[in-house]
Amino acid sequence: MSDTVPVTVVDDSETTIAVERGRTLRDALLDHDFAVYGTVSRHANCGGRGLCATCTVEVDPAPEPTHWHDAAAVRFGYPRLSCCLTVDEPMRVRLLDKYVWGQVLPRPE
Ligand code: FES
Repeated sequence: MSDTVPVTVVDDSETTIAVERGRTLRDALLDHDFAVYGTVSRHANCGGRGLCATCTVEVDPAPEPTHWHDAAAVRFGYPRLSCCLTVDEPMRVRLLDKYVWGQVLPRPE
């Protein structure tokens, strides 16, 4: 079994990164300088504790939630909390445009 897992990140373009198996998705995205947060939440966030809900992304396939806050996101159809997702299998991640904090901007048509 490989120690890394391919994760395809979609924003304006599509990039595949190799992520250490078991790494938190948020940390993997930040390691590669992807914009997980809004302009203020980039500096003022909960540090990956699953509390601020500003690290949201869309993920496919969507792993089962293991954190109560991420489970609530699934239940209400919100994007997933990248700090609450562990990378164990290949996945496709869409980054979301956000306002200052973490509010998601509508996707352009
Ligand atoms: S970094 Fe705060 S909920 Fe993910």
